[in-house]
Amino acid sequence: MANELHDFDKAYEKGHTPWDSGVPCLELVRVVNAGLLPGRKLLELGCGTGTNAVELARRGYKVTAADFVTKAVERAKLKAEAARVEIDFRVADVIKDDLGGPFDVIFDRGVYHHIRRVDLAAFLERLSAASRKGTRWLTLAGHAGEVHQPGPPTVSEAEFRAELGTLFQFIEVREFRFGTDSDDFRPLAWSILMERK
Ligand SMILES: C[S@@+](CC[C@H](N)C(=O)[O-])C[C@H]1O[C@@H](n2cnc3c(N)ncnc32)[C@H](O)[C@@H]1O
Repeated sequence: MANELHDFDKAYEKGHTPWDSGVPCLELVRVVNAGLLPGRKLLELGCGTGTNAVELARRGYKVTAADFVTKAVERAKLKAEAARVEIDFRVADVIKDDLGGPFDVIFDRGVYHHIRRVDLAAFLERLSAASRKGTRWLTLAGHAGEVHQPGPPTVSEAEFRAELGTLFQFIEVREFRFGTDSDDFRPLAWSILMERK
């Protein structure tokens, strides 16, 4: 775990953060606009520099947003201040730390696809503690049908259905492309919308 934190910490320090597009994720906006994330209390896992947390707060969610990299959370706090929205930011490890809840909605972009290789069982325990029957979880994850090196970690449909299907039922599974910090790099991704059983 120490290595994981070290790697992300260095990435933010050096600005090697291709996932940080700086604009709200269009797939998240689509799902919110479609009314598929009902409720108010929302947890973002691995919020990075907070672009999507700010967008969600602007749209009326009461957002708790966690990331284990202090620098990323500091930048996220500045973004929220500039946007004049209130967000409960936490420097926290989403595998180990109590994140409160239960939340109506959980969101992550690029976090499940990474953490599943670190400690899936502990992550699922955290998700279980932070949710209740009916909680919706939208995870945006790299697609195993298109692997890039370097690029986001990927997961296949068979893998995510097996890993997440015990705790959640699948509401909508779609393909889309991740935005990144480069217009030329838009890796294929899964949009996986689930509801807690
Ligand atoms: C691919 S980045 C995506 C960041 C953000 N969601 C976005 O879309 O810009 C993954 C993020 O998850 C965070 N992260 C990874 N493992 C974590 C953990 N165990 N606890 C908290 N944050 C974690 C990293 O620090 C990083 O900010």
